[in-house]
Amino acid sequence: MSNSINGKICIITGANSGIGKATALGLAKLGAKVVMLCRNKTRGEEAQNEIITKSGNKSIDLLLADLSSQSSIRQFVSEFEKKYDKLDVLINNAGVNPSKRYETIDGIEKAFAINTLAPFLLTNLLLPILKNSVHARIINVASAMQNKSINFENLQFKKHFRSWKAYSQSKTALIVITYEFARRLSGTGVTSNCLHPGAVKSNITRDYKGIIKFFTKLFFCFAKSPKKGAETSIYLASSQDVEKISGKYFIAKKEEKSKDITYNTDIAKSLWDVCADLTNISVEEVGFINST
Ligand SMILES: NC(=O)c1ccc[n+]([C@@H]2O[C@H](COP(=O)([O-])OP(=O)(O)OC[C@H]3O[C@@H](n4cnc5c(N)ncnc54)[C@H](OP(=O)(O)O)[C@@H]3O)[C@@H](O)[C@H]2O)c1
Repeated sequence: MSNSINGKICIITGANSGIGKATALGLAKLGAKVVMLCRNKTRGEEAQNEIITKSGNKSIDLLLADLSSQSSIRQFVSEFEKKYDKLDVLINNAGVNPSKRYETIDGIEKAFAINTLAPFLLTNLLLPILKNSVHARIINVASAMQNKSINFENLQFKKHFRSWKAYSQSKTALIVITYEFARRLSGTGVTSNCLHPGAVKSNITRDYKGIIKFFTKLFFCFAKSPKKGAETSIYLASSQDVEKISGKYFIAKKEEKSKDITYNTDIAKSLWDVCADLTNISVEEVGFINST
């Protein structure tokens, strides 16, 4: 595999734990300038020190943001823009699988807010600076857990909340948005792809309790390590083989087909409009809110 990541600036969200930390370490070892987006200073600094020590790469920056808060995402982007004049790779890795229905400070169901809306908002706000790079890459860590449809009437599970359904709908929506970014960014040099990392031992089910926690733990006994789980993210960020590939879904470094619904452009347009509405982004900020 030929790699083109040396000296490139890469943001990784949720870089203090699991797949995100392993991705940050892998890219640091390849010589990337890594910007870790983490929500907790102590956990972020611990991971930052570990990555510097293990990789010998000192270009590991830590910027704090809570992805459940849209104002925190906006503050992160303005801090990033003060320090950096371009961005080569954005890995929207952070994700949650809440066991109950929680609402964020913005009044949005937590899985949808963090797994779908945060990547949508962060990516849109960073687009101008991504376009400053000759070839920039947006990489969204999705999941094989995808729903056959997106229920626009109950997008935020105000009725009948089911943890895994809310999670898989938020990840289905993330794939739809990934493909829509690819269409809207066609010809700009910015690519947009997504991936399923496989079943990986991590903290993703930390919220679970009782019998569900027991069975989930049992299932994850057979899961792969975060290092293995990070391989496709690292491949999509660094390999020249995929420099011009856009609008695709990967598993184990190979293009795969996601659920049929994710390719539906009418659904994509509706979802894009809902996301734009819920995040209050304007055409002036990003240039193409309703261009398709
Ligand atoms: N593990 C799997 O089997 C699997 C399978 C398919 C897809 N995925 C996806 O892979 C991605 C990484 O998950 P993981 O398995 O590595 O789980 P993890 O160990 O729980 O890591 C999730 C990361 O997201 C961060 N995060 C959560 N809420 C945040 C917020 N509000 N603001 C900023 N950061 C936040 C966490 O930070 P804190 O440590 O501070 O909470 C943590 O760094 C997720 O998108 C997940 O859905 C995982």
